[in-house]
Amino acid sequence: MITIYNESKLQNIIDSFTIDKIELEKIAAAFRRDIVLGLEGDSLSSFKMLQSYLALPTRTEKGQFIALDFGGTNVRALLIELLGDGKVNVIKKATKQLVTADYNYISASTTAESLFDFIANLILEVAGTDKEYLLGHTFSFPSMQTDLNNARLITWTKEFATTGVEGEVVNELLKAALERCGASNIKPVAVINDTVATLLAAAYKRDHTDIGSICGTGHNTAYLESYHGLAKPRMILNLESGNFDKLFTNPYDKMIDERSEKPGEQRMEKMVSGKYLGVLFYLAICDALELADKAVDFDGADLSVILSDQSQNLKAVHQLIKAKMAIELDEEMCVWIKAIAESVVIRSARLIATSYIAIIWHIDGNEFINEHTIAIDGSLFEKMPLYKEAMQKTMYEMIGEDAQKVHLMLENSGSGVGAAIAAAI
Ligand code: BGC
Repeated sequence: MITIYNESKLQNIIDSFTIDKIELEKIAAAFRRDIVLGLEGDSLSSFKMLQSYLALPTRTEKGQFIALDFGGTNVRALLIELLGDGKVNVIKKATKQLVTADYNYISASTTAESLFDFIANLILEVAGTDKEYLLGHTFSFPSMQTDLNNARLITWTKEFATTGVEGEVVNELLKAALERCGASNIKPVAVINDTVATLLAAAYKRDHTDIGSICGTGHNTAYLESYHGLAKPRMILNLESGNFDKLFTNPYDKMIDERSEKPGEQRMEKMVSGKYLGVLFYLAICDALELADKAVDFDGADLSVILSDQSQNLKAVHQLIKAKMAIELDEEMCVWIKAIAESVVIRSARLIATSYIAIIWHIDGNEFINEHTIAIDGSLFEKMPLYKEAMQKTMYEMIGEDAQKVHLMLENSGSGVGAAIAAAI
């Protein structure tokens, strides 16, 4: 049973995950400045400002389309019917994992061909070979586009490492794989990021939607840019905001970055997204408990278990730590562990909410805030206790009563529906 602890050290760990209003304001100002620099094509911006070649849907988009949702270790193919005015019917759906005990399609020892053959076979399951379909592809990695269908992967994120995809046009790889497996009836015609897909799907049914964001395994935001540089004509830009780097980091952030596939990249994502929050928490509690790091795998779902534990003696916290780390904590230590988990999760929500405010200030200017709906997908926003509340509180802290004009809306079928809308456009 671990019962000895150093309160000031524990408090310091929590403080290292706590960001006050003044820091948030500095972050928002830097975020806003990076948007402006990015629009001017200035390399000092940490944003990629990727053009989507799409504005908002007209809501008249109709027909049956294949949607491919490829952005994490779960890949989905869907046959979707768009009925207009926000109405959508999912006719068929198939999902496959890219990593199991038997195979791994995201490691450096896998080739682009075998990854895309695997995906093409999944598409076949919903599309068959008889009928012709247009395919919209939600590809949730930073990609440089020259038109709606031509997206070249700049760099993998989320610890993907499959060889032969970086630098390539992803729909060309997909098309070749579809042909190899006898499915040339399916024509890839559009590639979009999941933030863009989420924004499109929400704007298909709701007014004032101009920001789309993902708070899940990865993190990123896209918004409708009306006036500036790169976004002429008016189009949705994918910021790749997970790469934002003007932040206040702590020692655990630095450790995560150093041991990641891509040190120095995706600094914000490594502080806020589901892929990393469990690891941040684990590194912090190893420090708190003065234990060696044995690379125990904590994930977002574990944090959710800890934050949901309302029992008097924090039984779930005790059991989870015992099961994962083979140690027993007394009740008081469980309280500290829960507080550390909360600080990790709340920091994520506060940083992301701040980035939304920065985007809104960029769109509206300083004088007046308009109505905005931010369409959000991802397990953190959908399922993590305290998350949405922490985002809303942060918005009140930053912009007061105007926060009532900013609506955070869950859009959890965006990646599929958005891809279908893009194919229709
Ligand atoms: C990718 C983004 C994506 C986000 C959410 C990030 O790792 O770089 O393109 O939108 O994850 O899936």
